[in-house]
Amino acid sequence: MVETLFSPLTLGGTEIPNRVMVSPMCQYSSPEGLATDWHLVHLGSRAVGGAGLVMTEATAVTPAGRISPQDLGIWSDEHADALAPVAEFVRSQGSVPAIQLAHAGRKASTRRPWEGGGPVPLDEGGWETVAPSETPYPRDGDEQPTRKLDRGDLEDLVADFADAAERALDAGFEVAEIHAAHGYLLHEFLSPVANARTDEYGGSFRNRTRLLREVTSAVRSVWPDEKPVFVRISATDWIDGEPSWDVEQSARLAPLLAEAGADLVDVSSGGISPAQDVPHAGPGYQLPYAEVIREHVREESADVAVATVGGITSPEQAQEIVRNDRADAVLMAREFLRSPYWPLHAAPELGEDDAVDWPVQYRRAVSE
Ligand SMILES: Cc1cc2nc3c(=O)[nH]c(=O)nc-3n(C[C@H](O)[C@H](O)[C@H](O)COP(=O)(O)O)c2cc1C
Repeated sequence: MVETLFSPLTLGGTEIPNRVMVSPMCQYSSPEGLATDWHLVHLGSRAVGGAGLVMTEATAVTPAGRISPQDLGIWSDEHADALAPVAEFVRSQGSVPAIQLAHAGRKASTRRPWEGGGPVPLDEGGWETVAPSETPYPRDGDEQPTRKLDRGDLEDLVADFADAAERALDAGFEVAEIHAAHGYLLHEFLSPVANARTDEYGGSFRNRTRLLREVTSAVRSVWPDEKPVFVRISATDWIDGEPSWDVEQSARLAPLLAEAGADLVDVSSGGISPAQDVPHAGPGYQLPYAEVIREHVREESADVAVATVGGITSPEQAQEIVRNDRADAVLMAREFLRSPYWPLHAAPELGEDDAVDWPVQYRRAVSE
């Protein structure tokens, strides 16, 4: 059967009503990590707009896991309570509420983009970052030292992800995505660019992937079977000439993530180092990676869906990806900032007028 962009996607026991998903996007607008009306309106409007799934931005599992001091977090019940109305509203619109659980590792403690990025010094409210090794993220002479996590810290970290997932469940989220991409902590463990450890968490492929496999299993153990777990990875570091993370390792990882309990691998790329060389970031630039990974999981008969993200903007382009079975779903970020009601407009453009319901409150806009 040929699937289309607006065919439902069932993962675990959860039916996602269509395959257009709102990609996680940091808003850098959370006092003390708490969600505000901004999150309700921002994520709520994309649910009103007909997205099948709406995902929160990177939501830190500990305060030190925030990218900026203004990042969203879920390290206490108070944080979960602040997020609950967002999950409830998204669900009330027929969309699936998802949360991205994250730790920023050695890229934490930075200023938000519109305040220039770059490290926040300790005496200005910044904090000590943590990483697989002592190597800081290269910042042109402005590096912050970073602390190497010891074995006890790693046990705590796995528990932090599981605790965050339990709170997310209480808050009403139906999908938990583990953020293991973009050069943040879990990706730092995967990539030899940032991981120089010589213990069971560094060196071989098996060792570098250990922490992510442990985190995935721990989240799965508290997340009900019928609710999907996603893992976002960077398929490649875009670094040649030195040991790095690449698409072959990503393909090898995907079935292991399935074994650890993941239902979907969300394929992004890059972020581990400013030395990355991205040849082009045009339309669908990360799709070829998703395709390689998807082919491999099929060869291995691994039960895991694969989604693509990056440079997807037009209904025809998104439809072509799903129709031609190149990925199971598409995530879109910037296009959803430009056009929060994208699915409501895309469906009729693709000749599927009834695929997405306009909210009853808005029906006069289309029926008169
Ligand atoms: C404002 C903004 C914030 C973002 N924040 C996150 C984030 O919190 N977590 C994440 O995994 N990716 C984040 N991204 C990356 C997007 O989810 C997406 O992967 C990337 O923008 C490529 O998709 P696009 O071409 O549809 O924008 C962010 C992107 C933007 C534009």
